[in-house]
Amino acid sequence: MTVNYQELGLVNTKKMFKAAFDGKFAIPAYNFNNMEQLQAIVTACAESDSPFILQVSSGARKYANQTLLRYMAQGAAQMMKDINPHLKFALHLDHGDTLEICKACIDSGFSSVMIDGSHHSFEKNIELTKQVVEYAHQFDVTVEGELGVLAGIEDDVVAEESTYTRPEEVFEFVEKTKVDSLAISIGTSHGANKFKPDQCTKNAKGVLVPPPLRFDILEEIENKIPGFPIVLHGSSSVVPKYVDMINSNGGNLKDAVGIPSEQLRQATKSAVCKINIDSDGRLAMTAIIRKVFNDSPEQFDPRKYLGPAREELKQMIIEKNKVVLGSAGRGKEIFT
Ligand code: G3H
Ligand code: 13P
Ligand code: ZN
Repeated sequence: MTVNYQELGLVNTKKMFKAAFDGKFAIPAYNFNNMEQLQAIVTACAESDSPFILQVSSGARKYANQTLLRYMAQGAAQMMKDINPHLKFALHLDHGDTLEICKACIDSGFSSVMIDGSHHSFEKNIELTKQVVEYAHQFDVTVEGELGVLAGIEDDVVAEESTYTRPEEVFEFVEKTKVDSLAISIGTSHGANKFKPDQCTKNAKGVLVPPPLRFDILEEIENKIPGFPIVLHGSSSVVPKYVDMINSNGGNLKDAVGIPSEQLRQATKSAVCKINIDSDGRLAMTAIIRKVFNDSPEQFDPRKYLGPAREELKQMIIEKNKVVLGSAGRGKEIFT
């Protein structure tokens, strides 16, 4: 059964990105795989009146079942009517890699999809992205494309420079594909180990300090496609308090390092309209669950550890919306 996102009470990203661009803030995109993550995201954004994008990766679709996930998102839209009646959100496919998965999501009520053709040649990326856009735009679904490859600790990144987005390619890509937003690579990366220790310096306390984001490349890109919404993936800060809590409660996260909040805040003042955060939520939940298990080894009721983990994630999201994204309190002006 196919369903359009409008019937589910969802919105595409157009209005949100326009407001974010004009207002110099960014829309947070949070990933979810289970009920507690979904509850935390929805209640945090409702309470802080923040527009947001609910993201589902292909891994999440496999983990939680694609049909169930879509109904969970629909349930969240319904719940939102009770807790913040004017607030709407987008349901977005994160890192879609084929036309088929994008079509399947669009047909099941997603309001936005990412087609990540960044590992293909420039020409193949254009061709694939264009096909997704042609399908999506028939239903007013927005599409995010990507140019440039994000470095990751798992990648054999030989020449760092070569993975950054090439500003000279962005105009042609956007014009030929008619994509609605563009994810770029300016030094962010996925996961909790965004940089190898030898790429970082150490501050006076011995804490790893990552290399700064390439704001110069971002500026060049903005000049090539003025007014066009830019997306940053891999933007967790890898909050040290959660890494410490994990490690002091039996965990073993080594050399975990993320993107400093001040740099993300700086990015929100530019054409960056969407910032993706997943790892920070995973770290927050894991930190609390480890602590509960350590402090109360007799506990075996999932509500006793998933409940506090959900509450921590909620508070973390409220804080990010207020302090990092600048999206808190913007819901009313966008949706009424
Ligand atoms: O960018 C990737 C997201 O963090 C989703 O991760 O594929 O493990 O669900 P996942
Ligand atoms: P993080 O791993 O930095 O949270 O990035 C998430 C992301 O980019 C999802 O697409
Ligand atoms: Zn990503």
